Amino acid sequence: MARYRSLISFLVIPSTLVVSQQCDLQFDGRVPSDFSAATFNTNNGVYNPSNVFGKGLNFGSILEIQNSLSSLFDVDTVPVEVTISDDSIFAPSANNVQTGFRRAELLIASNSGTDASTTGVKTLHFSVMKDANRPLNLTHEYQLVFLESSDFSTNQIVLKTGTILGANTADPDTLQLFGNVNANPVQTLFSVPFTEDVFHNFAVTLDFDALTTQVFYSQDTNALAVQTEALANDVSGQGQFHFGVLKKGLNGGDDIVKNGEQEDDIDEGIIFGGIFEEDSSDGCISLST
Ligand SMILES: *[C@@H]1O[C@H](CO)[C@@H](O)[C@H](O)[C@H]1NC(C)=O
Repeated sequence: MARYRSLISFLVIPSTLVVSQQCDLQFDGRVPSDFSAATFNTNNGVYNPSNVFGKGLNFGSILEIQNSLSSLFDVDTVPVEVTISDDSIFAPSANNVQTGFRRAELLIASNSGTDASTTGVKTLHFSVMKDANRPLNLTHEYQLVFLESSDFSTNQIVLKTGTILGANTADPDTLQLFGNVNANPVQTLFSVPFTEDVFHNFAVTLDFDALTTQVFYSQDTNALAVQTEALANDVSGQGQFHFGVLKKGLNGGDDIVKNGEQEDDIDEGIIFGGIFEEDSSDGCISLST
């Protein structure tokens, strides 16, 4: 049975809608309903069990399966919450202890940094929702979803909320999707109020040949709707997609990774659902299940 019934092909004339096509998946990060948080500690084939979380922690202690929720593309799959605490200090090596950040992010198991998820034309899907019991502190900047290039020199796309460092943030309670952060100025691709109690659904078509990004968005169980043209954005450099909470410190100066100020006693989280990536080389994009 075709799983995706509502599709468009934007490379053909607009009146030619493709209604029964199923897009090929590049990866599927939707969480099977039999997963517990501890499953994420194992080689589960969906998410990388080893990164990214604070030294001494593991995913079993920082994830919460959200069985009572369901996002647009969760069909027999379940959303998962990523939380951060004072212990969320990532230390990828002895001399890279990231004391300026509090962070935890899920990485797709197959997304090595040089795999096919960052070649051709792909559409990344994800849904995000607030947890009223674990609010973020909007005085800080947060990265919730980002593609980090394989040489770690940039983020080609990044979904942020809160008060963006070095920028004027009119309302920090906003989801802002930015283009490549090494561009000057950095391009705001799309923004929307980060309203509570509802999933915010995104699809982002990344053309790794033409170097463009196109944004689709909806709330709750509404079908995605196109929000932008395919905008010029340098998505080259391959890399890994991160889904989680990366909280930046304040007044970190030139080295925010190590020096940003962080308040104590935090308990913050964001709920993720419907994470997957499909092949859009033929124009196939799923707008709903
Ligand atoms: C938010 O963060 C700032 C800076 O870290 C801190 O001073 C403030 O107390 C925090 N607010 C809340 C409500 O936790």
